[in-house]
Amino acid sequence: MGLIPHQPRVEDTPHAAREWDGDLYPNPIPANFYLPSSFDLNSIKSLQMNDRDFIPQLTADGSLTFFSQEFNQSFHSSYGAKQESYFQYVVPTLLIEKALSPVLRLLDVCYGLGYNTAAAIQKIWEINPNCYIEIIGLELNPMVPQAAIKHNVFENWNTELIEILRILAIDRQVQTESLKATLIIGNARDKIKDVYKSCFRADAIFLDPFSPPQCPHLWTIEFIKLISQCLQHDGLLATYSCAAAVRTALLTAGLSIGSTPPFGRKAPGTVAGFNVKGYTTKYSTNFNSCLYQLPALSQSEKEHLQTRAAVPYRDPKLIDSPSLILKRREIEQQASDLEPTSRWRKRWLRIS
Ligand SMILES: C[S@@+](CC[C@H](N)C(=O)[O-])C[C@H]1O[C@@H](n2cnc3c(N)ncnc32)[C@H](O)[C@@H]1O
Repeated sequence: MGLIPHQPRVEDTPHAAREWDGDLYPNPIPANFYLPSSFDLNSIKSLQMNDRDFIPQLTADGSLTFFSQEFNQSFHSSYGAKQESYFQYVVPTLLIEKALSPVLRLLDVCYGLGYNTAAAIQKIWEINPNCYIEIIGLELNPMVPQAAIKHNVFENWNTELIEILRILAIDRQVQTESLKATLIIGNARDKIKDVYKSCFRADAIFLDPFSPPQCPHLWTIEFIKLISQCLQHDGLLATYSCAAAVRTALLTAGLSIGSTPPFGRKAPGTVAGFNVKGYTTKYSTNFNSCLYQLPALSQSEKEHLQTRAAVPYRDPKLIDSPSLILKRREIEQQASDLEPTSRWRKRWLRIS
């Protein structure tokens, strides 16, 4: 086991421009980047990881993660898997403030090893052991949560929680007096429709796919709209990404957005909700009253949303391959009247 040596998540890179752009590869995208057109997102088999994917990697806070050969990316920030879950997901979705509620519902998109779910359960029950928690996790590859258990990733967590995560990884369902957790295995792009139809509406949504260039189909306008339809009117969605394309998708879904404090890097994350005061566009939907003021976007972040980096990923029928989604965006960017992102970047590098 060693410290994560290379290939951090895109937005962990120390180079601020990359973090802010959210575009790992400047145009044109290298030809060899594209996934084969036969790449079948609906087939878990095509995405099955080999043993090398499950060699635990130590992060800076002492917690463990994996590195995905398939996506060429770490599952967590090298600054700390455990802390990332807490600061990037539990805190921004106000679960600490909401923990006194009798019931809380969470939607964990890209469950992975289960850190975000684990950190949320732990914090809520620390504050209010009587809170009834309902969780739905969406994950493509069942081997990921199982490998986390096999490698004792949660060794130092409380034993009740470890048991919950163990049963969830194996049986995909845990039901106790105070918890109902379901792990749905499959492509989140399909499974989210079932979640919506089931009328499950989350107080908090954790959106944690691999970064947009690796997993564009989970950052499209259409997918994010479906996710946001599973959010309670006063719920909050959090993600580590500050990519302008992702923020555009959130805004187009009618959400207001705010900036969450950077975790171990320069770039912030994003928090979004309907019934909150935050950065909005013509699409934003406010219900009866604004309950909460989201942390404001800086001037530079606002201007970033007026550049070509803000051209969103699109997947009109929710069936396109990652390479087609990337190509479609590249073409739209080339035809765009928006300011080139490089100009915006130079302007802000001069100022800072
Ligand atoms: C960055 S990791 C998530 C880490 C996780 N939240 C945790 O706390 O451990 C991304 C996860 O998304 C999963 N994934 C990739 N493509 C997916 C898809 N189309 N649908 C659902 N999950 C997917 C990967 O298997 C991986 O576990």
